[in-house]
Amino acid sequence: MAALKTDRRAPLVVTEQVSQMRQIVWQAQTRGSRVGLVPTMGALHAGHLSLIQAAREQCDFVVVSIFVNPTQFGPQEDFAKYPRNLEVDLKLCGEAGADVVFHPSVETIYPQGFATFVEVAGLSDVLEGKFRPGHFRGVTTVVLKLLNIVPADFAYFGQKDYQQQTIIRRMSAELNLPVEIRVCPTIREPDGLALSSRNVYLNADERRSALALSRCLHRARDQITGGRRDVANIRHEMFDELAKTSRVHAEYATLVHPDTLEEQSEFLPRLVGVVAARVGATRLIDNLIIEA
Ligand code: PAF
Repeated sequence: MAALKTDRRAPLVVTEQVSQMRQIVWQAQTRGSRVGLVPTMGALHAGHLSLIQAAREQCDFVVVSIFVNPTQFGPQEDFAKYPRNLEVDLKLCGEAGADVVFHPSVETIYPQGFATFVEVAGLSDVLEGKFRPGHFRGVTTVVLKLLNIVPADFAYFGQKDYQQQTIIRRMSAELNLPVEIRVCPTIREPDGLALSSRNVYLNADERRSALALSRCLHRARDQITGGRRDVANIRHEMFDELAKTSRVHAEYATLVHPDTLEEQSEFLPRLVGVVAARVGATRLIDNLIIEA
């Protein structure tokens, strides 16, 4: 007997064209569908798939964008070698329940002479912004463009990029974007390493050293939930823990206010631990919300 066909969804549509993408969303919304957008740079892992699954559960129609955005990479960064594997990504998108993949070319998003950027001042200049000048200007510009091309009801981002989602929520609120930003939890390996497309760069030794990022965050959390209130000392211990690990070059490890991202020295009932380090040649970030 032939297997029953249980998947009633239409096959995955892939488009590179802005006009087609807009028309597809318009048609879905005209049918009364709530549309979810999951912006990605591809190299999809379980973290991205959890965003697509959340969109699948909460929306009627799911668009995933795959675009390695050149404007968020600095001149010395890994834009050229950023992992790209469209074929695998499309398969994963289909399996996770996406309806459409928007995969524009660089020329489509940034035509010759492109000159318009959007920037969330202040929040974009601290933490990652200090080490990656211009990074968030590239992120907010491309996210705004993607939301104009895919005028979704909901857009999904990972907590893994804590500062990114803070900045995108602020942009969305301040520019009155007609979209609800939803943030999904960080997905970790069983040993604590936060999933990242850049983890593929790590060799076995570096992979072990990379655990220092999640370790120093979890230690800080345990200390604060265990009753310690000397936040400035805990911050220093986080940095030392990272800095003493071989193959790890610590950039920052600190405790910040959840909304303003300002470094804290006094106890707050809700703090965010944020860390960034180069492990070998690979730059990794992680964070943890700490509620006492
Ligand atoms: O988080 C990412 O993958 C990127 O920064 C995003 C949001 C897709 C913008 O290029």
